[in-house]
Amino acid sequence: MITEDQVKTALATVIDPVFEKDIVSYRILRSAEVQGEDVMVRLDIPTHAYTLPMRRELQNRIEAVIKPLGAKRVTVIADVNTAFTPTPSDKATLKGPKNVLAIAAGKGGVGKSTVAVNVALALLKHGAKVGLLDADVFGPSIPTMLGAPEVPARASEDSKIIPAQMHGLKVVSVGFFVDKDEAVVWRGPMVHRLLQQFLGDVDWGDLDYLVCDLPPGTGDVQLSLSQLIPIAGAVMVTTPQEVSIVDVVKGIAMFEKVEIPILGIVENMSYYKCPACGHHDEIFSHGGGKRLAQEVGTKFFGEIPIDTRIRFGGDAGVPVVIASPDSENAALFMDIASRAAIEIARGVLGKPKRSPRLAVIK
Ligand SMILES: Nc1ncnc2c1ncn2[C@@H]1O[C@H](COP(=O)(O)OP(=O)(O)OP(=O)(O)O)[C@@H](O)[C@H]1O
Ligand SMILES: [Mg+2]
Repeated sequence: MITEDQVKTALATVIDPVFEKDIVSYRILRSAEVQGEDVMVRLDIPTHAYTLPMRRELQNRIEAVIKPLGAKRVTVIADVNTAFTPTPSDKATLKGPKNVLAIAAGKGGVGKSTVAVNVALALLKHGAKVGLLDADVFGPSIPTMLGAPEVPARASEDSKIIPAQMHGLKVVSVGFFVDKDEAVVWRGPMVHRLLQQFLGDVDWGDLDYLVCDLPPGTGDVQLSLSQLIPIAGAVMVTTPQEVSIVDVVKGIAMFEKVEIPILGIVENMSYYKCPACGHHDEIFSHGGGKRLAQEVGTKFFGEIPIDTRIRFGGDAGVPVVIASPDSENAALFMDIASRAAIEIARGVLGKPKRSPRLAVIK
């Protein structure tokens, strides 16, 4: 006769293959029931980015500890329940999204918006409900990168902003409402007021992730957002060369000051592979992102090549993740999105995570 206590004790020893922690303290185990010689285990998978092979591995690990107890049949039922970043009362402006993922960089033009749209679409393809907030007050580019909305943004009867529908994403861009030339002269307090109104007024509905495309640098938008909404973490984008890396270090320091965890670093425009001859050229040097991640003690999420198809996707309003879903480029973004989502879940389920230390940087 198998007892529930035996099953629970056994399950507490199962180490999750993704988070590398036991499934009890990580709240992945929801319940376990014993009926005669059958054991039914229910799991809460904390992110859609937890892929099928990962789930199979977890199932194998569960079976490996339950079968020796004498169970004839082990049934594992796994539901995705996205872990969410708690909202402190002073940041209650945002309703609906469970986690805000900021895409940031120290420098302009390194590919933040490209990464933001492709990561948002990749999370959607992983099965999550996703919104995209273009918070680049001074140079919103999401409207160009996603093309014409299938359903434009509009106001609801109670004067809320209903986001636009674009390729399955709920999208709000300051570019929908604000003239770019007007915004250039705005000072900090105006930016703050705009974002405050904006964030409180949008009816996002239930979202697993709100991806937030930031302007370059460490300015007013970053500061205001960090004060207004709970940000689960930031992905820093850099190009490989020293000038970009130096600015990312400044960006990381700023995020650390406002207590936004750095989830990982992406190196964009990492190399060029000639489509005609296959020659691999490192136009902006190579490996700076990985080195930086090691130095500051954060994760390296991957390298994205310079590729005409990535640029074209952005210009044509059909990002590469949906224009060529089976391409190598799309796979890179799927992987980056998955890593970011897993780090968010780790931050929620593990101990409160601190941003990486910068003391080691010389
Ligand atoms: N990997 C890439 N391969 C080719 N082109 C790219 C790649 N990444 C970005 N681009 C192109 O580089 C330009 C700048 O990219 P993007 O707008 O994403 O950068 P950004 O960091 O958001 O810029 P800004 O600081 O102006 O907001 C765009 O035309 C984009 O299509
Ligand atoms: Mg941009």
